[in-house]
Amino acid sequence: MMDLIKQASDHLRKSAYAIALTGAGISTESGIPDFRGPSGIWTKNPEAERKAYQRYEVFLANPATYWEERLSSPSLLGDLDRIAPNPGHHALAELERMGHLKTLITQNIDNLHQRAGSKQVLDYHGNESRLRCASCHARYEREEYGLEGLRREGRLPPLCKGCGGVVKLDTVHFGEPIPPDVAERSIEEVEKCDLMLICGTSAVVYPFASLPVMLKQRRGSAKAAIVEINAEPTPLTREGISDYLIQGKTGQILPQLVDEVKR
Ligand code: APR
Repeated sequence: MMDLIKQASDHLRKSAYAIALTGAGISTESGIPDFRGPSGIWTKNPEAERKAYQRYEVFLANPATYWEERLSSPSLLGDLDRIAPNPGHHALAELERMGHLKTLITQNIDNLHQRAGSKQVLDYHGNESRLRCASCHARYEREEYGLEGLRREGRLPPLCKGCGGVVKLDTVHFGEPIPPDVAERSIEEVEKCDLMLICGTSAVVYPFASLPVMLKQRRGSAKAAIVEINAEPTPLTREGISDYLIQGKTGQILPQLVDEVKR
C-alpha cells in the first residue's frame, strides 16, 4: 500500500489541477454510517430507503406534508452538531491549503468538509444545514426560517424570500435533478482536472458516478489520472475507469498521503 501512496503523492505533486470526489465512506470514521456498507443505513433499514425514494414525489405533490414529515423525523445521519470531521476530512482541507487540491465535489450532506476547513466545496447532493428554493434555486441557512414557528402557525411550506417559490431542504432526494449551478460547476471542474482522487464512495449513484467516466472519456489515461481510496473495490475499479485503488480507510490513508506529499 505504501507504494501506491507514494505513487499518488507523485501524481499530486505533478498535477496542475487536482480535484477530489467524496462519498459517505469518508465520514464513517466520524461516526456517521454509510449507506450500502455492511452496517450501512439502507443495508440496515430497507424501509427507510424505500421512503427516501418517495420523498421528492411527496414534495412535488404536497409540500406541506413533505415539511411535516421532515420536521417530525430525526435525521438519518444522527445529530450532526455532535459529530466532528475526522483526519480524512482534515487531510483534504490541508491539500487544498497547500495548493494541491483545487476543488472537492462531495455527495455528503453533512457539512463536515467545510467544518474541516475546505473552502472550494461543491455539495452535489445538497447540504443538510441549508434550504433551497425549488423554483429559483436560491439557498438559505436553516436558521433564516423559523421552521418550527411556521409549523405551529400552520404556515408550511416555507416560501422563497426572493421569488415566492416553495422552499425545500437543500438535500437532493432520489429522482430530483441536481441543482443546475452545482451540476454545471462540477462538469467544468472535471474538464479542467488532470488528477481525480475518489474517496469513500461505492460509485453506484448517478449522475455523480458518471463524473469519473466523463473524465476518462474526455481526457483518457494519458492526460488524467484517476485514483480511488476506498475500503473495497467499486465498479470504477472493476471496469478500469480508475487507474488504481488504494484499499483501506480514508482516515488513515489520506493523512499518510499528505505526509508523503510534504516529504
Ligand atoms: N474509508 C474508506 N472507504 C470506506 C470507509 C472508510 N472509512 N467506510 C466505508 N467506506 C466505503 C464503503 O466500503 C463503500 O464502498 O465507502 C463506500 C460508501 O458507499 P455508499 O454507502 O454507497 O455511499 P455513497 O457512495 O456516498 O452513496 C451515494 O447514495 O444513498 C445515496 O444520497 C446518498 O449521497 C449518497 C449516495
